[in-house]
Amino acid sequence: MCLSLCKAGYDFNFFLRNTPCSKTGLYLGNLTFVFLIDGDLTMTFYFSLLRKALLLIFFTSYSLWSSALEGESGLVTQEKSVDVIMKNDEFPDPDSLFPIKDNYNLCFLKNLSFENNSDNIVIGDYTYYYDSDNVQNFEKNILYHFEEIGDKLIMGKFCQIGQGVKFLMNGGNHKFDGFTTFPFQAFGKSWEKISTFGIIKGDIVIGNDVWLGEGATIMPGIKIGDGAIVAAESVVTKNVSPYTVVGGNPATPLRDRFDVEVTSFLLDLKWWNLPIHRITELAPFIVNGDIQKLRHLTKE
Ligand SMILES: CC(C)(COP(=O)(O)OP(=O)(O)OC[C@H]1O[C@@H](n2cnc3c(N)ncnc32)[C@H](O)[C@@H]1OP(=O)(O)O)[C@@H](O)C(=O)NCCC(=O)NCCS
Repeated sequence: MCLSLCKAGYDFNFFLRNTPCSKTGLYLGNLTFVFLIDGDLTMTFYFSLLRKALLLIFFTSYSLWSSALEGESGLVTQEKSVDVIMKNDEFPDPDSLFPIKDNYNLCFLKNLSFENNSDNIVIGDYTYYYDSDNVQNFEKNILYHFEEIGDKLIMGKFCQIGQGVKFLMNGGNHKFDGFTTFPFQAFGKSWEKISTFGIIKGDIVIGNDVWLGEGATIMPGIKIGDGAIVAAESVVTKNVSPYTVVGGNPATPLRDRFDVEVTSFLLDLKWWNLPIHRITELAPFIVNGDIQKLRHLTKE
């Protein structure tokens, strides 16, 4: 069986007259399809309004071709822009929970409502958490955080927190200088007076512009300096200096991000504390590490 499309009514009529065949039709609006089934089971489609159809095909192809050409030639250069909740139409609204419209995997953490111990969780503007499952997992990953202990999780501004980062708070510290680590006291009644409080190592304090890689674990009392990076899946057991990359279990310094001079310039600048308009102005040079331009733009 073969399918053939007649070029024109004339050709078709000629074909019809000279071909022994049976004929059946299908009517779709003003397009008429006629199926001709001849002795050899050849089927032919006849467009009764062929000219209209050809015009339609021509204009559709032309518009597709011209939009492809525009893309290639760079005439349409605007990249797909992200739809963001803005404040005063100028910058992302730090008070929005989900700053990127229709993206519920990324949230500005300070706007997340914490079910437990919320007074002891302090998070700065623009610090965000990404979770492909549910951003509420952030709270689930603040472990052993009991109000009666009073230790805090404090995080600065503009931090980037990867999925599954865990914070182990002091409530998980068992007393282990005796002959058992079993927390008798927790079970009350006759055991209530057997004090089993472990060592309280203080608050976890994460600086500003810190990047905590996916699945990293931060142990109780750890302080992580501004601009530090914690590699994915690391376990941070010691304090981390500003602008240092650490990784592994236990996390050890992998390298300094910058030399001493640049590091001290950045620690003096504290760009995250500048007014947001100023941050917007400086951001291209901060992102590209253009120290000359930053020095020039920020000198008194
Ligand atoms: C820390 C990190 C930024 C380093 O990036 P990088 O410099 O390009 O990494 P490299 O592959 O060049 O490795 C540099 C060194 O770090 C080590 N390293 C890298 N990642 C590590 C990790 N997760 N744990 C332990 N060591 C690590 C490498 O083994 C290498 O060590 P070496 O110098 O002794 O050979 C990157 O490895 C990382 O963990 N990124 C986090 C990604 C993430 O979790 N994103 C989630 C979205 S927020």
